[in-house]
Amino acid sequence: MTFAGGKLIWMNGEIIPWEDATVHVMSHALHYGSSVFEGIRGYKTPDGMKIFRLTDHMKRFYNSAKIYRMSMEYECDELIQVCKDIVVENAFENNPYIRPIALLGLGPPGLAPKADHKVDVAVAAWEWGAYLGSEGLEQGVDVCISSWQRVAPNTIPAMAKAGGNYLSGQLISTEAKRLGFAEGIALSTDGTVSEGAGENVFVVADGKIMTPPSSSSILTGLTRDAIVKLAEKIGLEVTEMAIPREALYLADEIFFTGTAAEVTPIRSVDRIKIGAGSRGPITKELQEVFFGLFSGKTEDSEGWLEDVSSKAS
Ligand SMILES: Cc1ncc(COP(=O)(O)O)c(C=O)c1O
Repeated sequence: MTFAGGKLIWMNGEIIPWEDATVHVMSHALHYGSSVFEGIRGYKTPDGMKIFRLTDHMKRFYNSAKIYRMSMEYECDELIQVCKDIVVENAFENNPYIRPIALLGLGPPGLAPKADHKVDVAVAAWEWGAYLGSEGLEQGVDVCISSWQRVAPNTIPAMAKAGGNYLSGQLISTEAKRLGFAEGIALSTDGTVSEGAGENVFVVADGKIMTPPSSSSILTGLTRDAIVKLAEKIGLEVTEMAIPREALYLADEIFFTGTAAEVTPIRSVDRIKIGAGSRGPITKELQEVFFGLFSGKTEDSEGWLEDVSSKAS
């Protein structure tokens, strides 16, 4: 099955047709997972097309590259501008998803790349609807605890959004789907809750909102951070804490956050009904303030919505 998402892709300094944006089969990244990437969403708002937390995503992109000592020949501001340009050039009718990627390309064979190993950089974009289904956003999704644990600390760094990390995500997500669930949640190697295959997890119990800390092998999501800040704005406090598996079964509400999943309620875990088995009131309230950013109902007091027509400085 092929996929032609957008019309144009920016690759190594040029905007080229989608089908021409290819890499060599001997690229280091294909063999060893040595790529870093981002997932960013654009939203059509009453004030035009905006990209949510573009600068923060691109900072994380460069941080992921830093962990792997991968140097790109482009400055962060240049690639921020490219993300805006590629959205404009593709003239999307619906909300786009933007995917910057840097990968170790064709170079001398061997595991440890030389400092001057070629790094290919690309930014693609395509229209992408609700990751876990639009029905899931309202009704909630059914998830399972994965038999696969998340990467242990000091093995593969969870805070880097690197291609290789997503072998863990693929095992978790594929197992969940094979068993008839929308998504899987993985535990950390200490047995406490880590995160979904591509989403952070929040738990509501007795009016208290909790989410696992960065030490629980999570990618520190920007949506997670946005929800913590938006919750504060409406008078709700989020506590970062280690969460035992069984606390999920006993929760009043659980929800996922992520660029792809946005804010998605979870209605059951391992076929155990969470709360009333439907979207809970706190999840609904947080969805409203989150999606309100894009409809204009929530004030963008943090400057998270970045205009595609403004020039990156
Ligand atoms: C493993 C993982 N955890 C969490 C997230 C959520 O991060 P963000 O909200 O920055 O998209 C993602 C998505 O990027 C992810 O892949």
